[in-house]
Amino acid sequence: MPLSFQHLISTKQLLRKDTDTILKVAAEMEKVLKKGGDDRLHGKILAALFYEPSTRTRLSFETAMQRLGGELVTADGFQFSSLYKGESIEDTIKVVGQYADIIAMRHPEQGSADKAASVSPVPFINAGDGPGQHPTQALLDLYTIQAECGRVDGLHIAMVGDLRYGRTVHSLSFLLGLYKNIRFTFVSPHELTMPEKVTNFLKEQKIPYDETDKIDAALGCDVLYMTRVQEERFADHSEYERLKDKYRLTASQVKGKKVVVLHPLPRVGEIATDVDALPNAAYFRQVRNGVPVRMALLAMLLGDA
Ligand code: CP
Repeated sequence: MPLSFQHLISTKQLLRKDTDTILKVAAEMEKVLKKGGDDRLHGKILAALFYEPSTRTRLSFETAMQRLGGELVTADGFQFSSLYKGESIEDTIKVVGQYADIIAMRHPEQGSADKAASVSPVPFINAGDGPGQHPTQALLDLYTIQAECGRVDGLHIAMVGDLRYGRTVHSLSFLLGLYKNIRFTFVSPHELTMPEKVTNFLKEQKIPYDETDKIDAALGCDVLYMTRVQEERFADHSEYERLKDKYRLTASQVKGKKVVVLHPLPRVGEIATDVDALPNAAYFRQVRNGVPVRMALLAMLLGDA
């Protein structure tokens, strides 16, 4: 099934027909997973380039490729690649594109995905570019919201925590802009509020949002999307220490409420483990959804969905 793009850099490039198609194919991939996978990507190679730490994104891309019969080449960390020797992102991608049929890259620099996609001879997927975007996370978040709430239109979504540096909330806000009657509540300390690139977009699209530093405002929403304070993005570590424990969601705050609790993970202390056993806690189901969503993307970008 065709998508409107060859390279996935940002959720801002997606059309509603793309998300409809991706969600539909991801649901089909759940059935493929139930029978253990298939061989539709036999003979294809994914280059998984992770120049910043990852557990979920990397392993779910690798799982997705292997469940569809494909293979992998990988690179981890600057120190083990020629980026360390001064090679540019562009040259690295031109080289890797000679080996692999599709590339997924995580890189600490915002804008690195645009640079990579601009020269990539094969489909390119942004697996997170610094505090910029994480479009495949947003797609699996969307898939999870649809699965947990039964709809996306009309929902009130709260995003809590580090909205300044948390790339997943940027990507998801843009993506939800494709849906009808969405409303946002942004909960953060004033140092970590949602950046203007997002709030200006919401204003342009006439999507209502309110901002507060009180987590109570999130508890009555349909979805509470919790985030970690992104230690690795702070120039001043004392500022991180001051802000890191601002929010800690506990079972007593959500028990008996209908709010669906999501988190892109990893969590540090912002969701107490006593929340995990509640039906509201959807974050490990959300993790699982990364596999069918990435299977769908890989298959469609390689022309095999
Ligand atoms: N959600 C997410 O991007 O997790 P990882 O950093 O482990 O890939």
